Amino acid sequence: MAGGDTSEGWRTSYGRVRKDPFRAVEDTNRDRLVRLGVDQLDRSARVLDVGAGDGNLARSLAGLGLTGVVGVEYQPELLALHPDRRRTVAGSATALPLPTSSVDAVVVMDVLHHVPQAALPDALAEVRRVLRPGGRLFVCEPAQTVTRRVLDAALHSPLHRLTRFSRDKRAMVDAEGQTFVDWLAAEHGFPTTVRSAGFTVELFERKWLHHYGRWRRA
Ligand SMILES: C[S@@+](CC[C@H](N)C(=O)[O-])C[C@H]1O[C@@H](n2cnc3c(N)ncnc32)[C@H](O)[C@@H]1O
Repeated sequence: MAGGDTSEGWRTSYGRVRKDPFRAVEDTNRDRLVRLGVDQLDRSARVLDVGAGDGNLARSLAGLGLTGVVGVEYQPELLALHPDRRRTVAGSATALPLPTSSVDAVVVMDVLHHVPQAALPDALAEVRRVLRPGGRLFVCEPAQTVTRRVLDAALHSPLHRLTRFSRDKRAMVDAEGQTFVDWLAAEHGFPTTVRSAGFTVELFERKWLHHYGRWRRA
């Protein structure tokens, strides 16, 4: 299993920063999904949520009216918290436990930066395998933007001690570990990696702290 930095410390701080004092996580998720165009899918589309975690994104996908969502998650501690265990399976992004050409769309949100760089082509090959021809891959991952560089500098200065939220955010960044550092260093090359895996781009943009990509399986 190709995993990244998803330790106990990471889970704890991730759980805390999700309680963003400025914005409900549901609103952030919905904005991201709409920006990607996930809301344009048929309501009955077969959608795979890779790195489903504790069901955070599943709730937002259901909120868009999508009824055919299945999740794959490799941390048993998070899987156990998922609200719909019947439609969630244990497995890794690099060995998806789904048949070939079995889904219309794959959503990957804040997951690939946990996957070691060397395993990214395997993860994308797996996404391509389970997608039907013409199916869509939606990706939202951290981007190395100016905003992120400024935020990162603040989090690594004494300023991070000012609020509980910024302390938790710093703890999470520290716990993310090497896959996150490597991801940010290589993030500019991600579109090339996805194209090489057999996808064509429909949308790619960087905004604030993330990039948003919609890709079509060739
Ligand atoms: C930051 S959370 C995001 C969860 C969810 N996608 C969301 O947007 O709320 C990252 C998730 O990816 C999972 N993950 C990391 N590497 C994975 C892998 N190789 N295969 C499957 N899941 C993975 C982690 O266990 C965690 O649940």
